[in-house]
Amino acid sequence: MTSSINVFADSKLPKEVLDTLSQHCSLSLSPNNYELSTDELSKSLKSKDAFVCLISSQITAQLMDACPNLKLIANVAVGTDNIDIEAASERNILVLNTPNVLENTTADLAFALMLAVARRVVESYIYILDNKWDKWSFDFMLGSDVWGKKLGIIGLGQIGQCMAKRANGFDMEISYFQRNKAEAEIESQLKAKYVSLEQLLSDSDFVSIHCPLNKNTFHLLGTKELSLMKPSAILVNTARGAIIDQKALITILKTGKIKGAGLDVFENEPKIPDELKNLPNVVLTPHIGSATLETRTKMAQSAVNGLIQAFAGNMPVNIVNAKYWPNFKNRITGNVKCK
Ligand code: GLV
Repeated sequence: MTSSINVFADSKLPKEVLDTLSQHCSLSLSPNNYELSTDELSKSLKSKDAFVCLISSQITAQLMDACPNLKLIANVAVGTDNIDIEAASERNILVLNTPNVLENTTADLAFALMLAVARRVVESYIYILDNKWDKWSFDFMLGSDVWGKKLGIIGLGQIGQCMAKRANGFDMEISYFQRNKAEAEIESQLKAKYVSLEQLLSDSDFVSIHCPLNKNTFHLLGTKELSLMKPSAILVNTARGAIIDQKALITILKTGKIKGAGLDVFENEPKIPDELKNLPNVVLTPHIGSATLETRTKMAQSAVNGLIQAFAGNMPVNIVNAKYWPNFKNRITGNVKCK
């Protein structure tokens, strides 16, 4: 039997993207004013073929088992740590993400955080708001230079590479660490040197994290690693909170073992410990790495276009578990089709 595909999508997606989706599928939307509980989500997804979700939805094996019709999850993000990918693959559920649209935007924020911490932008702003500024002073609010300094990039993927491009414009010396050395051409274009994690942490003036969160990178930076950093160093994280052991970072920051941190992501966000909020040497933003109107629109378009393509039987470029494409195709053949 051929029928239209039933899609459940987050209502916060841009209207034009939801309009495109509704031209191709039977579309149901989440309530726009609150986050569904796991139970509510499993009820909403029960008879659905696909889910266009945001990273605020946790998609577990249990949830997938409660939704046997589910064939595709389109995550409107590049990181997919909110989805149990292994469980999805075992159930022949295709997972899509949104690469190649948000890298420059996220690197912009990482650079902004680096500059903000080094040049004490937020601290200075708060000083003015508190009506404390009464005279100009030569030795007041001294920060650190960014230009010409050493930047260590953890994860030279697409976002890490965009960060390196920006750093080149600031005449920074770039080193990077990841599991495998990058191609020689990328290294030479970006003037980036492959080093060990230990060397990167002990040499860099700024360390910026751009790797995905997975079982290999969970708490990649704990007390031991953070203690290798210079007392003058600044740490920036726009990737995922749990790559850093947050408790260890708070202690390191409180005891002045590093100079400061710019953090857009947190362990257990949106909860942020008061201890972290109360530190003067941090700049905190609420996971807004890709949050520009242009980029969020492109991300939603990428996820939805991939979904439409997949149900039309054409392999999209943005599949996370591409090995399972033939199984997904078998599931949709003669069963459900795009309108
Ligand atoms: C945002 O955090 C993303 O992974 O795209």
